[in-house]
Amino acid sequence: MDKFSIEGGLPLEGEIAVSGAKNSGLPALAACLLTAEPVTLRRVPAVRDIQTMKRLLRYTGATVSDEADGSIRVEAREVSRPEAPYEVVKTMRASSLVLGPLAARTGRARVSLPGGCAIGARPINLHVFALEQLGAVIEQSHGYIEAQSPGGLKGRHIRFERITVTGTEDLLMAAVLAEGETVLENAAREPEVVDLAEMLIKMGARIEGAGSPVIRVEGVERLHGTEHTIIPDRIEAGTFLIGGVITAGDLTIRGCEPEHLRALIDKVREAGAAVDEQGEGTLRVRGTHRLRSVDVTTQEHPGFATDLQAQYMALMTQADGISIITETIFENRFMHALELMRMGANIRLDGRRAYVAGKRPLSGAAVIASDLRASASLVLAALVAKGETIVDRVYHIDRGYEKIEEKLASVGARIRRVESK
Ligand code: EPZ
Repeated sequence: MDKFSIEGGLPLEGEIAVSGAKNSGLPALAACLLTAEPVTLRRVPAVRDIQTMKRLLRYTGATVSDEADGSIRVEAREVSRPEAPYEVVKTMRASSLVLGPLAARTGRARVSLPGGCAIGARPINLHVFALEQLGAVIEQSHGYIEAQSPGGLKGRHIRFERITVTGTEDLLMAAVLAEGETVLENAAREPEVVDLAEMLIKMGARIEGAGSPVIRVEGVERLHGTEHTIIPDRIEAGTFLIGGVITAGDLTIRGCEPEHLRALIDKVREAGAAVDEQGEGTLRVRGTHRLRSVDVTTQEHPGFATDLQAQYMALMTQADGISIITETIFENRFMHALELMRMGANIRLDGRRAYVAGKRPLSGAAVIASDLRASASLVLAALVAKGETIVDRVYHIDRGYEKIEEKLASVGARIRRVESK
């Protein structure tokens, strides 16, 4: 298992480029199953979860090729095996994104139930319930969900009892081929949902309201191929933004979409950082050693993203005063706090709340990453810790960040990957 060795104390200075969004590339790849025609996707990040989804598409019978220009070409001429097997799903719960497309395209789907993961139980009951509303008959046995919709799916008015990002995406992909109108109420508003809808519309789907709480879909007979460029990764961009602040650096972030980061930008400005939106997807952030504590509560988009909570907590260990961080989306998303405390942070956990008392000097330590965003939090803390930090199990970070150590090293961080034998 690879590790990162990081020497703290250097400001991040220079320009860093943002890759395409992992959480947009995943549903976009799943959407390729909805047509027999070829689809080309651009700006899909070369991260572990994307490799897993490509492997899953090949398993169902699609051809998936990496083109010379960096794009990915998918052709699901026929879906010979509408399945997502346990050995794939256990490594990536987002595999459940093929449930909707497989049911819509082939009339059946057999998808392994995703296990829980470090940050919570993460069931997919809302996906299943909503698919049943569209007429799928769903059984659960031997750890698998078996969905049958032999006569095809029928549009219905569906209301999600709680907002679910991949649940919204799964059902959007099922509804586009269902007969008649489907209404998705209490839908997720994340930019990745909007990006998926735009891709589906280019494939011939009829969708209105993506990005709002109510999405209306008029089913069509079939979809055709298309080309689509994935939106920038707002969580990667937000992670770098926090990196510029926490190291009191001067970082220019290129190829991002500031509008997708509004909640974070407001918070770091309130904490004392200077953030200039320079247009054409460029943000310039200058940090400070005099940071103020600012409370945060995670919420569904456009609120403060739960995927930036761990990174923000690392930042608040360096702010004067006490900040209260409330995690409302997942039930167990504070594992990074325990590792930050081993580096010297003063954090008290109380259920969904973390009380972070800054400003505490951090010292390098051997720490272990538990999940994708927790590992990003530990890297950020290591950038300001005194001495060397060894972050173990960086395969977590490789799931969602493309070449993060190269990008950070290019703006002055002293970070290197230590390959374990
Ligand atoms: C997506 O996960 C993201 N993953 C997550 O990013 C992100 O943290 C999450 O949305 C919240 O923003 C992808 O897009 C691939 P949810 P998802 O369904 O869709 C509960 C990362 O770091 N729930 O919006 O799985 C669930 O347990 C990852 O890139 C049910 O109870 O999240 C959670 O508490 C981590 N039943 C809440 O809803 C369901 O059927 C929100 O989950 C579905 C969800």
